[in-house]
Amino acid sequence: MSTPRQATAVAASNIALVKYWGKRDLELNLPATGSISVTLDKLISRTTVTFDAGLDGDKVLLNGEQDPTKAARVLRFLDLVRRTYGVQERARIVSVNDFPTGAGLASSASGFAALALACDAALGLGLSRDELSVLARRGSGSAARSFIAGFAEMHAGDEADGTDAHAIDLAPPTQLPLRVLVAITTRSEKAIGSTEGMRLTEATSPFYGAWLDATRADLDRMRAAIKNSDLELVGTIAEGNCLRMHGTMLSTEPALLYWNAATVALMHAVRALRAEGLGAWFTIDAGPQVKVLCDAHDAAAIQARLAEVPGVEAVISAAPGPGAHVIEAGA
Ligand code: PMV
Repeated sequence: MSTPRQATAVAASNIALVKYWGKRDLELNLPATGSISVTLDKLISRTTVTFDAGLDGDKVLLNGEQDPTKAARVLRFLDLVRRTYGVQERARIVSVNDFPTGAGLASSASGFAALALACDAALGLGLSRDELSVLARRGSGSAARSFIAGFAEMHAGDEADGTDAHAIDLAPPTQLPLRVLVAITTRSEKAIGSTEGMRLTEATSPFYGAWLDATRADLDRMRAAIKNSDLELVGTIAEGNCLRMHGTMLSTEPALLYWNAATVALMHAVRALRAEGLGAWFTIDAGPQVKVLCDAHDAAAIQARLAEVPGVEAVISAAPGPGAHVIEAGA
């Protein structure tokens, strides 16, 4: 019997500064527009994959739990890897996040980036970073961006097979003195996942076309703002883009309302900080947590203020960080 093939990879979450909300192809998980993100140095997934001919089925352990619902997406991804690269063995996957389980923080970006990289290393596929990004995209669109250190741009691509829909480098982590303060407002899981939410928006929102056009313009503005190391402009564009996405979500039928009372209180708190002259801008994904962008110098003061907002359970401070990497490979 052949020796098991094993590798461990780590990847961090990334926060979209210009977001993607809408797909041009569901099967290949191709985004309708590009997106721009910053990879963090916190909110990390560490994933070990072992392909083992001795296993009679795949085994998935996520944060120490065997949860069939969460494992289903991982199993679909494993089948894709086996189908694409002609692999026969079943696999054991052990993945842990460095943030509290069920903290209501999405782990699909860090999780699928770490999983794609661990599969590549375990099987010795020798995929390029672009190819890894394409592969991880099949698990989760945002995972395609977690291979890039610092600031990344995800291309929507033109090819029907999605080979040009991957992330590229925009700027290194040191480009801006940025901190991302992640304010946790609830620990419950989100109501409607992003794939279903996007499908509903595409089908029913009268604003969907305008959202895509505005996002394409935001991509050009954001790229320039990052290149010019203009944190104020980066924050301003990111907040506007987030609000346009949530406006589009709210115009979906049924309405996608991802905010709770603390989410709204945080948005007001950030605007109040700005009125006092502190540079702080919010961005929110398909959930109730608020990510606040600010200068590293102001981060401690702003973090303390956010922690006082009623309904806030914790505030995690993160900086731009490295891309996904392998930490152990070999049987
Ligand atoms: O990659 P997914 O399927 O989790 O979708 C990401 C959707 C947003 O977080 C709302 C936006 C983004 O670009 O990350």
